[in-house]
Amino acid sequence: MAASARPYVIDEMISAKAIAARVEALAREIDATFAGTQKLVVVGLLRGSFIFIADLVREIGLPVEVDFLEASSYGDATVSSREVRILKDLRGEIAGRDVLVVEDIVDTGFTLSHVIRLLESRAPRRLEVCALLDKPARREVEVRATWTGFTIPDEFVVGYGIDYGQRDRNLPHIGKVRFTDGGAA
Ligand code: IMP
Repeated sequence: MAASARPYVIDEMISAKAIAARVEALAREIDATFAGTQKLVVVGLLRGSFIFIADLVREIGLPVEVDFLEASSYGDATVSSREVRILKDLRGEIAGRDVLVVEDIVDTGFTLSHVIRLLESRAPRRLEVCALLDKPARREVEVRATWTGFTIPDEFVVGYGIDYGQRDRNLPHIGKVRFTDGGAA
């Protein structure tokens, strides 16, 4: 049985309003850090960051270019795999450029550390990371985002672009998955 075939409900954890306020505040810090840049290359990690990056770039006041990278991580289960593969690479060059990597969740840290290593090897002028959510309790590899939207407990979350077995990405808020069949996550 696919994991997402288990019955569950979603309990709201972070409201759409709280997310919007935080996104605006993050954008102000990003604007200040990259002030004077000719163009900021905003790299969204697919697919979970697609709503976050859409909102974030509309709050950023600097000239931006948007690119995407897709790394495999979870598959369709709730257990993170250690092997990170690049499924879709950037379209543009980042050598000598200012880069902001936008991630949905930092969980074990494997995905982000792999992506940072890869992008750093292309010699950007500056590379910073903005993650919407951080689950420090699950960290296995030391990696730190420059900015984090919210630090959350060890719960499986969905919404605002984040999925459970490709479902629930379109929820406007972030909610935690609670199984109703009595089993653990
Ligand atoms: P990491 O490599 O373990 O840090 O995994 C990061 C990726 O796992 C994120 O970009 C998400 O796609 C996924 N992930 C981690 N936690 C959750 C969660 O609570 N809900 C949905 N996806 C998650």
